[in-house]
Amino acid sequence: MIDAVLFVTPEYNRSVPAVLKNALDIGSRPYGQSVWDKKPAAIVTASPGGISGFGANHHLRQSLVCLNIPTLQQPEAYIGHVNSLIDENEKSQMKEL
Ligand SMILES: Cc1cc2nc3c(=O)[nH]c(=O)nc-3n(C[C@H](O)[C@H](O)[C@H](O)COP(=O)(O)O)c2cc1C
Repeated sequence: MIDAVLFVTPEYNRSVPAVLKNALDIGSRPYGQSVWDKKPAAIVTASPGGISGFGANHHLRQSLVCLNIPTLQQPEAYIGHVNSLIDENEKSQMKEL
């Protein structure tokens, strides 16, 4: 039994990738037996661009309202310029502060 869901997604054309939308849709049926109902969630978007997946983050929230998924409002989580944060081996490129 899953207690909560953390959605971490890139942005496709200012929305979520179709594979994520498909997972939401499949899990929502049969009607009345949705696996998503009342499951707490939070969203993190990541993008190579500076807008940081803002469009996907908020478009996803629209579907989560319909699915009765209570979603964390604050803090918002947007990771921009993600390509500069990890190298091709997924090793962190973040500088120590
Ligand atoms: C069809 C498509 C649409 C995309 N649209 C956006 C976009 O709207 N905003 C953005 O920041 N990045 C966009 N990107 C870039 C993705 O953020 C980037 O390719 C990311 O690494 C995708 O991860 P994936 O290949 O693991 O799905 C898009 C990429 C693809 C393939």
